[in-house]
Amino acid sequence: MKIAVLGTGIVGRTLGSKLIAVGHSVTMGSRNAAHPEANAWAAEAGERAAVGEMVINATSGGATLEVLSASGPGNLAGKVLIDVSNPLDFSRGFPPSLSTSSDTSLAEQVQAAHPEARVVKTLNTMSAPVMVEPGLGPGHHNVFVSGNDEPARAEVRSLLESFGWPAEDILELGDITSARGAEMYLPLWLRLFGVVGKPQFNISIVRG
Ligand SMILES: NC(=O)c1ccc[n+]([C@@H]2O[C@H](COP(=O)([O-])OP(=O)(O)OC[C@H]3O[C@@H](n4cnc5c(N)ncnc54)[C@H](OP(=O)(O)O)[C@@H]3O)[C@@H](O)[C@H]2O)c1
Repeated sequence: MKIAVLGTGIVGRTLGSKLIAVGHSVTMGSRNAAHPEANAWAAEAGERAAVGEMVINATSGGATLEVLSASGPGNLAGKVLIDVSNPLDFSRGFPPSLSTSSDTSLAEQVQAAHPEARVVKTLNTMSAPVMVEPGLGPGHHNVFVSGNDEPARAEVRSLLESFGWPAEDILELGDITSARGAEMYLPLWLRLFGVVGKPQFNISIVRG
């Protein structure tokens, strides 16, 4: 499949490498690829999104809506848009706060801005290395999936399985509003990072 990855940070690069390793064709967009300015980046992102059959948003939360809007609605219409971004606001230093309130999420804002895209939130609750190598941690641990479109969620589950996620460890939370909880986990993730001392950890759901 042709997959466009928007964002060349650690997440975009890690996902891009894994996607290639499992047989996909990947294009990536960056402000620095050909143009120095963010607006030029967004135009570039639009070109990339147009090429992809599936699009992954791995841009910073503060840039996500701007970059996707500039990509043009036609370039996202009908496509599965995997959103791994987190709405982190670093304007008051570390740890960051969330830029969204508790009755919405960045994923919902993306879906509302692009109603014809099939937005699926996933992988945002763990660090980039864990996203593509779930075997980094011992035992079972979980990845969450949120989205309104069931076939889109199924495509994403299949992609996650190709990354090495056992089917039983992929938990569907529900429609796109369920991304709120996944995004609101970030303040806890950041504190856990301080306690664990490294980013290779994840949530494991233990059922009684
Ligand atoms: N780091 C992790 O392990 C992790 C884990 C889970 C979720 N996430 C989420 O995944 C996303 C990517 O994270 P990251 O750590 O890889 O990198 P990041 O530093 O959060 O974001 C980098 C990407 O955002 C773009 N960007 C930043 N500001 C921009 C602006 N004003 N206009 C246009 N583009 C802009 C950058 O463009 P350039 O390429 O031009 O620099 C780059 O492509 C974030 O939303 C993050 O919260 C990260």
